Amino acid sequence: MTVESAAQAAYLVAALLFILALAGLSKHETAKTGNAYGMAGMAVALVATVALAITRNVSSLGLILIGVAMVIGAGIGLWRARVVEMTGMPELIAILHSFVGLAAVLVGWNGYLAIEGGADPAEAAVLIAQGTLGIHHAEVFIGVFIGAVTFTGSIVAFLKLSARINSKPLMLPGKNFLNVGALVVFLALTVWFCLSPQLWLLVVVTVVALLLGWHLVASIGGGDMPVVVSMLNSYSGWAAAASGFLLENDLLIVTGALVGSSGAYLSYIMCRAMNRSFISVIAGGFGIEAGPADDKDYGDHREVNADQVAELLTAAKSVIITPGYGMAVAQAQYGVAELTRKLRANGTTVRFGIHPVAGRLPGHMNVLLAEAKVPYDIVLEMDEINDDFSDTDVVLVIGANDTVNPAAEDDPTSPIAGMPVLKVWDADNVIVFKRSMASGYAGVQNPLFFRENSAMLFGDAKDRVEDIIRAL
Ligand code: TAP
Repeated sequence: MTVESAAQAAYLVAALLFILALAGLSKHETAKTGNAYGMAGMAVALVATVALAITRNVSSLGLILIGVAMVIGAGIGLWRARVVEMTGMPELIAILHSFVGLAAVLVGWNGYLAIEGGADPAEAAVLIAQGTLGIHHAEVFIGVFIGAVTFTGSIVAFLKLSARINSKPLMLPGKNFLNVGALVVFLALTVWFCLSPQLWLLVVVTVVALLLGWHLVASIGGGDMPVVVSMLNSYSGWAAAASGFLLENDLLIVTGALVGSSGAYLSYIMCRAMNRSFISVIAGGFGIEAGPADDKDYGDHREVNADQVAELLTAAKSVIITPGYGMAVAQAQYGVAELTRKLRANGTTVRFGIHPVAGRLPGHMNVLLAEAKVPYDIVLEMDEINDDFSDTDVVLVIGANDTVNPAAEDDPTSPIAGMPVLKVWDADNVIVFKRSMASGYAGVQNPLFFRENSAMLFGDAKDRVEDIIRAL
């Protein structure tokens, strides 16, 4: 068996391992195994690629450069993975996406210089003989475009997420027109380049794409960044797939398509769970800052203290906890885990109801609860638990707001109308942990707070949970 065919077989194995990795990562019980599959797949892919490079007469300087790049890359990767905080994960992912984008731009330019630029006439002759030269033009142009959009878009996302620049949306006049205009220019230039490939066209599309990526993400508010990061994840996949076509590397095409489609699907899930269209996220301007609650009269709310909640919990047979963004802000997950242990030791059934967009990241609550060692089997998704609230004695809404807002179901005029929500109000008692009557991310008032079976426990969620543990 030649090295060439062994490498192709290894690529197939790596592709399967990547698919298994994605399958594993879709559930928290199997996430660790999923990661292991991903690492194994990447190791196989790297070994096969280096072996291929050796057989293709890469100079010894080339091999040394590959080795040095791998050592530096692995060193930085290990260091970052060790020191990154869970909360810093989105910005790390954003900057990693920018590297994929940059790589796609460099591969595209390299492809142009080799074939259209005339540096590799032998390879160009092969493409002409195969009749695929036109396809090569398109691959170069599209690869550079997607890569450049991903590159600058990811850099802006990184700068916003790490608070190095203001996360407020940039509101240029006619911003949607600018985005659509850039796409139209790209399409026109692609046709032109395929008919007559010229260097200046590639320069123009690179500049247009760099500006588009920058503007696209700069004009989206900080709150929508999670959707943007997953969208850029998708772009980086398509950029990698485009490079795969140029480099005639099947594994890169398969992997790029996997990343591209899973990122697109994740963006879709997030948008659906927020009941927003993908276009409205791109158009920006939503959830910039939590606005003041509206002035409609919802009636009075009732307040309770930690001792009263402790009493209620002692008598309860079944409790559901629905955490939200406030639990993350307060870092209350350890207290919540401790409270759960205490209640379960007392014979109470305790479960968690997790809304798909609770918090500010996909899986935000799951990660925090896993960090605090809450058992996986009592952490349920919204669809798994939504019918059980009516048989529940007490619901603890810890720092959640929009995700438990009955207006999404009852009020067709509400900005969040139609968003699926946790039906906490069906329980006998609902205790809402928050610091004030302020609205949540969507900036809308929550009629739940004024229902007869609801009571507010004001203060920082971590402090209040600890007060309850003490009172128990
Ligand atoms: P939110 O609706 O954002 O409400 C969080 C609540 O936590 C606020 O009302 C706030 O009230 C309270 N809070 C903040 N700090 C607190 C603290 N230290 N102690 C106690 N309470 C505190 O949260 P949610 O229910 O999790 O909903 C998430 C929202 O984010 C949805 O609208 C969703 O569409 C959006 N979103 C989610 C994602 C993903 S992927 N998860 C991505 C983008 C947008 P006080 O200020 O009165 O304390």
